[in-house]
Amino acid sequence: VPVTAPPRAPFAARTAWDLRENPLASLVSEARRSGRDLIDLTESNPTRCGLVNAEPLVALLGHPRGAAYRPLPLGHPDARRAVARYYDDRGLSASEESITLCASTSEAYGWLFKLLCERGDRVLVPAPSYPLLEYLADLEDVALAPYPLLREEGFCIDVGALERLAADPRARAIVLVHPNNPTGTFVRRGDAEAAYAIADRYGLALIVDEVFGDYAHGPLPPSRLPSFTGGDRALTFVLSGLSKVAALPQLKLGWIAASGPPAILDEAMRRLEVIADTYLSVSTPVQLALPAILEARAPIQRAILERVTSGLAALDAALRDAGERCPVRRLPVDGGWYAILEVPRTLDEDAWVELLVREEGILVHPGYFFDMDRDGFLIVSLLPEEGALKNTWSRLLKRIDHLTFAPPTGS
Ligand SMILES: Cc1ncc(COP(=O)(O)O)c(C=O)c1O
Repeated sequence: VPVTAPPRAPFAARTAWDLRENPLASLVSEARRSGRDLIDLTESNPTRCGLVNAEPLVALLGHPRGAAYRPLPLGHPDARRAVARYYDDRGLSASEESITLCASTSEAYGWLFKLLCERGDRVLVPAPSYPLLEYLADLEDVALAPYPLLREEGFCIDVGALERLAADPRARAIVLVHPNNPTGTFVRRGDAEAAYAIADRYGLALIVDEVFGDYAHGPLPPSRLPSFTGGDRALTFVLSGLSKVAALPQLKLGWIAASGPPAILDEAMRRLEVIADTYLSVSTPVQLALPAILEARAPIQRAILERVTSGLAALDAALRDAGERCPVRRLPVDGGWYAILEVPRTLDEDAWVELLVREEGILVHPGYFFDMDRDGFLIVSLLPEEGALKNTWSRLLKRIDHLTFAPPTGS
């Protein structure tokens, strides 16, 4: 990665990112400059998708009870109790004492890396997965060691690879994203067993990102684990927060639900409390509003699930209409807000993205943003409003079909 700063500038090496605009961002700014309206299938901000009337919930933060400040490192007892109740409502167990509030899941990752890792230690992360993990690790001087999810096997964990990486003496934790972004797959029970056994064998912690845990597209097959909360096999930290649970990322409230063998869990909570006390980053008004916000989540989640599943149905209908010879395939998902399209490798992913923007005004993510195992995938969000999506799927498929079977002359 080229260092963009002059050689004597006082910046830490961990911030020496390549800050040049990436090809996708350049495409978008060019299209916007030329006044072109894009259909943005990378949009995953629920507050921009006409889904949630956030105003009454945001108004709860204006209640005068939020005027007084009591610094409570792990969070206000009413808020921690509300999170425990949220798990209880889902038939899961996470005690009030096991909850740490933080500003976001991203902050939770940072705190856990501080809790678990020395500089240069390794955290095992799934590939493909969520691209922010790389930055979160950089900022804590932690190295990521990606373990493959096997695409051909429905993205199950490559347990052999996980075990080899876990045996590294610098490995400290295994991250699982459940369900994963962007593959939409919940961890299978057998893989969860293997992860617990490996964590136990090598003394690692599990960090399980369950932000999309409420968004299974239907009843989960019995082979899938609903959640990692409440186990006592290994020290486990389940992460979630309002950004997905109530589609309110702007409120900045996330949490960690810890579980594990009692002695080590107790020590983890005491250390986490010191980390949380150092930042005290969650605002009092949002903590006090949390019980009512969590109470209000059901219709929000229903609206999102309805949007996502009808988006998938529309995509599948367009695929059926495109017929047998259509060179695009949608990979199966269990849940989440995204779909993965497998496209021909006659063009690389950047070229597909560019052509779709230039010729159809449709913006998608290339698979490599999410560390897919090979070229030939596009990632689409299923949140955009149906009204805005007229014919998008069929236009996208037709364009890919056309460019696959009748490439532009001169190419
Ligand atoms: C898998 C996953 N984890 C965490 C986050 C970030 O959540 P938060 O807003 O709580 O930091 C996202 C955001 O898209 C995500 O996809």
